[in-house]
Amino acid sequence: MNYIEEQIISIGKIRIENHLTNIGIEMVKKEIIKGLYAPEKYISSKFFYNETGSKLFEQITQLDEYYPTRTEKSILSTFVNDADIDFQNVSIIELGSGDSSKIKLLLKQISPVQLKSIRYFPVDISQSTILKSSLELIKEFDLKSITGIVADFILQLKVLPKTGRRLFCFFGSTIGNLTKTEQHAFISALGDEMQSGDGFLLGMDRVKDISVLENAYNDKKGVTAAFNKNILNVVNTLCDANFNTDDFEHLAFYNKAENRIEMYLKALKEMDITINSVFDTIHLNKGEKIHTENSHKFTDKDVKAIEEYGNFNLKNIFTDKNKWFNLLYFTKK
Ligand code: AVJ
Repeated sequence: MNYIEEQIISIGKIRIENHLTNIGIEMVKKEIIKGLYAPEKYISSKFFYNETGSKLFEQITQLDEYYPTRTEKSILSTFVNDADIDFQNVSIIELGSGDSSKIKLLLKQISPVQLKSIRYFPVDISQSTILKSSLELIKEFDLKSITGIVADFILQLKVLPKTGRRLFCFFGSTIGNLTKTEQHAFISALGDEMQSGDGFLLGMDRVKDISVLENAYNDKKGVTAAFNKNILNVVNTLCDANFNTDDFEHLAFYNKAENRIEMYLKALKEMDITINSVFDTIHLNKGEKIHTENSHKFTDKDVKAIEEYGNFNLKNIFTDKNKWFNLLYFTKK
């Protein structure tokens, strides 16, 4: 998460722009501190993804219990023929691109001639992840160009490219990490940003059996626990704080009323945390929880709401045999 250095990297057909510097470390600190001094403590889930966090997340996606990635990938690897998307000269903008493994599955179904006309814009908060995945991707696919955008796409929708006809991709059910209010605000802002003819591919995890959901966030190997605790290391780095990950326990459960998994870090003892010299210490009681993530699960009613908030036409719904995951294709009205 490069909030400080101004960096533009250029290697052959790859270019990477860092827009996080416009947010700046001071704003990030403020955002984190606001959550830690709130009556009900929280840290935004976007702070999971430093280098270690991104690696741990990739490990999560390989776990037996964690079905979403594998299920979405099975849908992504076959849907192109059944979707009415024109890929000629399109700009593919992938929000939260991570290791770019999902876009690969889509690109594999496109002819070499069309690939040459496509511009790919991975957007992610992690610069190292974008660079690594772009270098890999260009070896495998002869695209027109790759422009990596290091940005917080929730705060910085305006920095996304405006060139040509665009296909926005938002995979992984990352939309589920936003609150309902944030989801609707984001979808309507994205809808406003899009022009008639632009497309939107959205991956979303569906409501299902509670035990399947809870197991996916409480894996036996403890990778999710390590991923959850690592957010404290990120806070330590960004805010000069002194959290000790050993003083916390991973907690994840399904909130049925809200249709979401909630993740917390629960303090194993009473403690005081210092966040650089300027602020009062943060007091935590034994058993007190820091909320680190919501992961909403979706219903058909939610799909309808997204179509309305974005002012979209829902063109296709792709799903798996269990109906555990949806890949939706919308166009802008
Ligand atoms: C894939 C980023 C949406 O909510 O499932 C995985 C991240 N958190 N295990 C999800 C996550 C805990 C996640 N996203």
